[in-house]
Amino acid sequence: MRMKDKIGIVTAAASGMGRAGAVRFASEGASVAVVDIDADGVHAVVAEIEKAGGKAIGLPGDLTDDAFSRGIVAETARAFGGLDFVWAHAGHPGPSRLEDMDLDVFDLAVNLNIRSMTLTTGAALPEMRKRGGGAMLYTASTGGLRGSPRSPIYSAMKFGVVGFARSLAKRVAHENIRANVICPGGVDTPMLRQFIARPDQDSTKGKDIEALVKSRRNEYPMGRPAEPEEIASAALFLLSDEASYVSGAALTVDGAMIA
Ligand SMILES: NC(=O)c1ccc[n+]([C@@H]2O[C@H](COP(=O)([O-])OP(=O)(O)OC[C@H]3O[C@@H](n4cnc5c(N)ncnc54)[C@H](O)[C@@H]3O)[C@@H](O)[C@H]2O)c1
Repeated sequence: MRMKDKIGIVTAAASGMGRAGAVRFASEGASVAVVDIDADGVHAVVAEIEKAGGKAIGLPGDLTDDAFSRGIVAETARAFGGLDFVWAHAGHPGPSRLEDMDLDVFDLAVNLNIRSMTLTTGAALPEMRKRGGGAMLYTASTGGLRGSPRSPIYSAMKFGVVGFARSLAKRVAHENIRANVICPGGVDTPMLRQFIARPDQDSTKGKDIEALVKSRRNEYPMGRPAEPEEIASAALFLLSDEASYVSGAALTVDGAMIA
């Protein structure tokens, strides 16, 4: 059991990588708070964890709500008695176009990529201090490490996530709190489709999304995007005590995409 008796939060955990992480961490002994706006999805993940003998609570809600992004920490600590780790995984592709950009979509992306995880972190640190340490994990992207011509705005935000995590890692290292970032390339989830089918991306307008997903497989060195469970495995390592001296890292899990 690599996460025995740990207590943690996973955001955007009703689907994709977040779901895979919540299920995996619980199977390794953690008590997990499953956070997502999709209430049915949250309850399904909690049920899946409990059916397998694990411990979870569901916290359905909107992470663009500041009080909710902060409040998930107190709710988790109340339910399980403390907090050891957070995977702040929620994000958003943002607009593709720079010309006549949709500012509402821009603001939504800032909220989900940057603002929410910052607020959750601010609430989480005091709880981790009470336990003598902890581990934060953020989700950036390969687009947070190198330029992304299809998504300059997303890339700017994910560079921000990397910068935040690295800065935090230095700030709290003496308190035994670690902070790392995971940088996936493409992962086979609904968000991959959301990226490809952004309404302001002229090149994919009106096209069959599943056909596009398939046709882009040759862009991956391994000939396929990652499965969510492959990202969850790396997240498990970074959040577990096995990574006790890993902090400030931006770990690519991209099948050699940006090697
Ligand atoms: N899928 C990819 O190819 C890929 C690649 C690199 C990085 N990422 C990053 O991974 C993260 C999520 O990706 P995924 O592929 O696991 O996603 P996904 O599409 O499988 O799931 C996203 C989840 O976020 C939830 N969500 C959306 N808006 C929310 C809100 N306002 N409040 C709370 N929850 C909300 C959705 O309900 C959904 O369950 C993001 O940070 C994204 O930038 C994804």
